[in-house]
Formats: sequence, structure tokens, C-alpha cells
Amino acid sequence: AHPGLLAGRHALVTAGPTHEPIDAVRYIANVSSGKQGYAIAGALAALGARVTLVSGPVALPAPAGCQRIMVDTAEAMRAACEAALPADIAVLAAAVGDWRVESVAASKLKKRPGEPPPTLKLVANPDILALLSQPGPRRPRLVVGFAAETTDVVAEAIAKRQRKGCDWILANDVSEATGIMGGDENEIHLITGADIEAWPLLPKKAVAERLALRIATEIEHHQRT
Ligand code: C5P
Repeated sequence: AHPGLLAGRHALVTAGPTHEPIDAVRYIANVSSGKQGYAIAGALAALGARVTLVSGPVALPAPAGCQRIMVDTAEAMRAACEAALPADIAVLAAAVGDWRVESVAASKLKKRPGEPPPTLKLVANPDILALLSQPGPRRPRLVVGFAAETTDVVAEAIAKRQRKGCDWILANDVSEATGIMGGDENEIHLITGADIEAWPLLPKKAVAERLALRIATEIEHHQRT
């Protein structure tokens, strides 16, 4: 309906889970479907933005009008994001693994009778949202993150916004009863710093369209002031 609103803008979007290898054939993953991030990438493209979608392993088709870069690990996602800069807008919807295995075995770990199971030593992954939020010439003008929480959703999201240094946080309640993780709907609180918007329960595609329009308004407004 508003095809040119984001014409000339570059939007970077992350989506999906990460796979952190344990050995040649095993990995640590999470249940992220990538649906919300993919829908956001498509909605930004529909408003005319040039979209780079950095995606973890999912089976979804690339949304129309997006340049998609497939990655597996958090570290590869970070590198792809930094290589995609500069961007006007960054929406980081990926469920990035917080930890990776410190020393990945080059071959398959063997299960040997009588031997104890292996112990995995984990180390922290880079926080891509915090990295992209750092002030500097390459910081996107609008950095948007997600907060998937199961308790005190809004309070946690407000704290997360401060901690990460991003502009907006979309908070959603992912407690199991909501069925949001992997589901087709999302109930969002948008925390902008200026206020908190409670959105109704919407299909993920409608959340994406509403967010894309909200971003377009914000970018336009900043342009003029
Ligand atoms: O800290 P937490 O994982 O709850 O923060 C969620 C937000 O941070 C999401 O927007 C997610 O994409 C982003 N994130 C990231 N890199 C990480 C961890 C989270 O970009 N390593």
C-alpha cells in the first residue's frame, strides 16, 4: 500500500536459530522458526527498502526482494552482519545461541563403553545486538531488538533495551502456554524509550507489517528534524 516509504534505505535483518557445533556431526540449536524475522524482512522490502537478511539454518524460502545470506553459527552471523553495514535500520530477530563449545572436535566424539560422557566447556558468543548498538559512524540509525521473555515481560524488556543500547525492543511472551515460539501469531509490546505500545495478538505477518510502517514513520520523522 505504501511501496516507496523506505526507498533508498538499507535494512539489515537477522532471523532464525544458530547451530553451534559440538563435533563433526552434532550441534547445539534452539527452537526458533525464523518466521517473525523473515516476515519483517519481507515487510521492509515491500516498503521499498534494500534488505539484507542474515539467516540461521531454517527451511523457509527467502522473502521477495531480500538479499539472503545463510549462516550457521553466531560468529558467522556477526561477521555477516558487520560485512553488511552500513545500514539505516537493523532489526535483529535471530535467536542467537548465547554459548558455543570452546573446542569443537574435528571428528565425531566416540562413545566408549565404560567411559564417562564427555563434558562440554561453553564460552560466550558475541552479542550482535549490543555490538551493532555501539555508538559510532557505522551504527544504524534505528536498531531494533527482541526480548523473548516468560516472566515480567515488559520490565525485562525495558532493562534489556538499556543494557543492549538499542533504540527499540519488541517484547513478546514466549511462555509455553502462549505457543508463540514456532507459532504463527505474536503479542507484542513495543518499547521505544519514549513509550510502551501494547499491540493486540496478531499474525506474525501483521506484526511485521505494523513494525515496518512504524519504522518508516520513525525514519521519516528523524529525517525532517
Ligand atoms: O539477551 P537476549 O538474547 O535475550 O536478547 C535478545 C535480542 O538480542 C534479540 O534481538 C536477539 O536477536 C539479540 N541477540 C543478538 N546476539 C546474541 C544474543 C541476542 O543479536 N548473541
